[in-house]
This record gives sequence, structure tokens and C-alpha cells, in this order.
Amino acid sequence: MKAFQSFSVGVLSLAMLVNQALGFTPPPVFENTEVVRVVDITGSYIRETLSLTIKNIGSAPESIYYFALDPENFAKVAVFEGREKGKRSGLLNVNPSEKSDDERNVNFYEIPLLTPLKPNEETVIQLGVAIVNKIYPSPLSAAQTDSQLLAVRDNRFTLSAYPSVSQTLKINTVGLKVNDVSAEGLQEEENARAEDAGEPPYTLEPAVDGKVLTYGPYESVSAYASSMLTVQYEYPRAVVKTAKLERDIWVSHWGASVSFEETYQLHHFGTKLEDNSFSRLDFIRRSQGYNLNTAALKGLEVTLPEGSRNIYFTDLVGNVSTSLIKPSADDNIGLVLKPRYPLFGGWNYNFTIGWSVDLDEYVAQPEPAAEPEKFILRVPLIQGPMEMPYDEVTINIVLPEGATNIDLAALHPSVPEALYITKSYLDFAGRPTLQLVYNNLIDNYKRTSVYVTYNYTKQSAFMKPLIVSGVFGVFFTLALLISKIDIRVSSFKPKAKTN
Ligand SMILES: *[C@@H]1O[C@H](CO)[C@@H](O)[C@H](O)[C@H]1NC(C)=O
Ligand SMILES: *[C@@H]1O[C@H](CO)[C@@H](O)[C@H](O)[C@H]1NC(C)=O
Repeated sequence: MKAFQSFSVGVLSLAMLVNQALGFTPPPVFENTEVVRVVDITGSYIRETLSLTIKNIGSAPESIYYFALDPENFAKVAVFEGREKGKRSGLLNVNPSEKSDDERNVNFYEIPLLTPLKPNEETVIQLGVAIVNKIYPSPLSAAQTDSQLLAVRDNRFTLSAYPSVSQTLKINTVGLKVNDVSAEGLQEEENARAEDAGEPPYTLEPAVDGKVLTYGPYESVSAYASSMLTVQYEYPRAVVKTAKLERDIWVSHWGASVSFEETYQLHHFGTKLEDNSFSRLDFIRRSQGYNLNTAALKGLEVTLPEGSRNIYFTDLVGNVSTSLIKPSADDNIGLVLKPRYPLFGGWNYNFTIGWSVDLDEYVAQPEPAAEPEKFILRVPLIQGPMEMPYDEVTINIVLPEGATNIDLAALHPSVPEALYITKSYLDFAGRPTLQLVYNNLIDNYKRTSVYVTYNYTKQSAFMKPLIVSGVFGVFFTLALLISKIDIRVSSFKPKAKTN
């Protein structure tokens, strides 16, 4: 009976806690003196930069600013970075908040200021935000000879838990047939609304200066103000995303190599062909201006590090021979992937690429003298094409058989991570495998690394030939072993990477 009671009390307090988290309103201790938001829609995902001049209008020092986002945008955030202007280093440890205001339908990012802001003082927060899956074709389909029109729908105000003295929104476009379709014919309605409310009316039509649309400055914007706008624009290039990427990284001390295999499920999310009516003739014929042919994806480029070998590109049918390997910047290798057919809006293409590099490209020994068994692997989180959003990424890091003391450090934490065993042909105990899963990544994360430390002994390295010998016979294996050792001695020079 007692246990039951404490159980129900536990449930009650949990419910109260959840309620508190869902009915959260940030304390009204800040005012935005000035908000300038720049939304860049020149690519296949949205890049926003915000400059928020904030003032403490409370009576005590404050250290957490709550940045509001509507739940749709909140779920589509791929990058959210912040810095405080004029502070050394300045990088802010921003995090999505567990607390939300469900009544107003608002989520938050918590922005802890570097030093508490005193009453009446101001500071400037700069944010960099990338949002995926927000650009859509409008109309959804068109004829092959029509141009691709895309659209973005968003709040003309920067959603905020605090009132703003002034807000400006700028939209950077590629500058082709840009049109605010939400403003058409609505200015009179807005004028009437403003007169009733005793406010100055908002000018719905943006000021256009070259490729930039400017809305505002809007004065005296109340907290949580929202007014949706829709910008439609011609976009001459393909807009593709990777719905799913499986990235496998095999570390082999025995083979002195790190091998990569990546399987992409590519999706073109631009304008679809009307009735799926692809015409080869229309595609070959060169017509004037932009149309769905120009917006079809004809190729992608992936940059591989210098010294990459055993490079392959396959799809459902087999080897794709139309791929091209060319030198790229910084001695890297450019792998140009040409799908078997041009990819139009709404179409999918699955393919796999693979390559290998020397072990010492990514694996080093931090203290070879003191800890000869300790290794550190440092690999880029992703390595795919530029201008690429990813819905879902699964990374499997397959360590050599016998690796122990495995530790992971990823700057971008995965949800969730797991450690399991991969067993492949000729494996004895199987290979410890770290699995990392991510949602909403963009090509930017190429610059992010994953670090794995592990212990690995020479005995483990010799396990392999012992098992192989059981299968193929002693003599064959001995020859193999000797040649492998030769390779290891000459090529395995762990070097400390500086970047
Ligand atoms: C694919 O092409 C590569 C290089 O041309 C070749 O070595 C490999 O055997 C081919 N694989 C298949 C499955 O055809
Ligand atoms: C790509 O792979 C996924 C998962 O295996 C499958 O559901 C989809 O139909 C494939 N798409 C194409 C175009 O082959």
C-alpha cells in the first residue's frame, strides 16, 4: 500500500513538472532594442543570420535570453549558433530548451549570456541558424518547358518572447522573378486593421534593392507578433536533399587503411514534371531561359582527401562508369557523380560511393612511447556534396577486432548513440562498432569531426592471420602475413594532425 502511494505521488509530481515545462513563458525581463534578420534563400536550405540588440528592462541581472521559434521551424533547425558581440571568443553555448509555451505554440532556444546583463544595460547577440525542409515548389508541378518556381513561407516578424523597439527583415534571393505573393491585394486590409488597432500600418510589400527584399524597419513590435508572408521565386538549379545517408567507416590496422562506404537516398524536392511527362527531345533541345531541364540534377561533386584509392560509385544497376575523378583544390580529389538519368523534381536516386585512405590519414597515437596501445581516430562527421541537407544520417564506425576501452567524443552529439558488434566473414569475436544517428544535418558539418579513442594491441593484429590460417592453411597465410608486415612498417607512420 505504501509503495503504491509513493508511486502515485511520483506520477503526480511528474505530471506537474511536465505541465510547468509545457506552459512556460519567459520572464519579461528583456526588450529587443533592435532586431535585424537576414534570411538567405539562394540555396537548398535556409540560412539566417540575426543580430539582436537586447536590453535588460528588469530590476536584477539576467543571464538567460529565450529565443522563440514556432514548432515547425524548431523541428527543422540544422544549425543554431550564437556569439556575443565584443566579448573575447564570444561563442555562446546555445541549446534547444525543454520548456515550451504550448498555449502560444512556441518553442525556445536558451541563450546563456557570457556575463549576466545588468538592469538597463544592452548587449548584442548574433545568431547563425540553418533551417532545412522549408523551401517547397509552388506550384507543385509544371511543364518541362516551364521554369521552376519555389516558395518560402515565414513570419515577417522575428518571433520573440520580448517586445521589440525595431525589427527589420531582409531576404537574399538569386534575384529571378521574386514576388511576395502574400502581399498582393492585402495592403488595404492591413490599413483597416491598423486603423482599428490604432497602430501605424505595416507596409506588406517589401522594398526591393537588386536581389534583396527588405521588410521594415517595423517599430514597436509586440512580443509574439506574427504575420505570415510567402515569397515565390524562380530557381534555375536543382534542389536536392539526402533523405537518408548510411555512412560506414571501417578501421583496419591489419590492412593499414580506413575504408568508407556511403549509401545515399537522394531526393529532388523541386518542381515535378506535370503528369510525369518527361520528353527526351525537350531535354536535348536547347531552349532559351530557365526551365525544368535546367533545374534537373545532372551531377554532384564529392571531395575526397588526397591519396584516396579504390574509389567506386554504384547504383541499383551496378557500376556507374560516367563518374569522373579530377584533381580539386588543396590536392584533394573531386569525385564527380553523374547519375544514369537527369534527376527531375520529385524523383529519387539511390547510390553508393566508397573509397579508402591510409590509416595514418585518420588514426594517430597520442603518446606512442607511454601508451603504445592507445589510438585516436579523427574523421569528419560527413564528407558529402556541398549545398546538401540531410534528413537522417547513420554513421557506423567499425573498429578493428580486439579494440577495447572505446571512447567517443563528438562535438555534435548524436541521438542516440550505440555500441554493438559487427561480425563479418572471417571475424572471430566481431568488431566493436559505434553507431551515431543524426537528424537534420547540412554540408556544414563536414567541418565537424568525430573522435574515437581505443586500445589496440599487437596480439589483436595477429589474431586475424591466425583465424585466416585456420581457413586457408598455414603456408598461404604466412606469405600474406610477411607481405602485410612489410606494408605496415613502411607506411604506418602515425602523424599528429594539427587541424
Ligand atoms: C566497377 O568498376 C571498377 C573500375 O572500373 C572495377 O574494378 C570493378 O570490378 C567494377 N565492379 C563491378 C561490380 O562491375
Ligand atoms: C531507395 O532505397 C529505399 C530504401 O531501400 C527504397 O525504399 C527506395 O524505393 C529506393 N529508391 C529508388 C529510386 O530506388
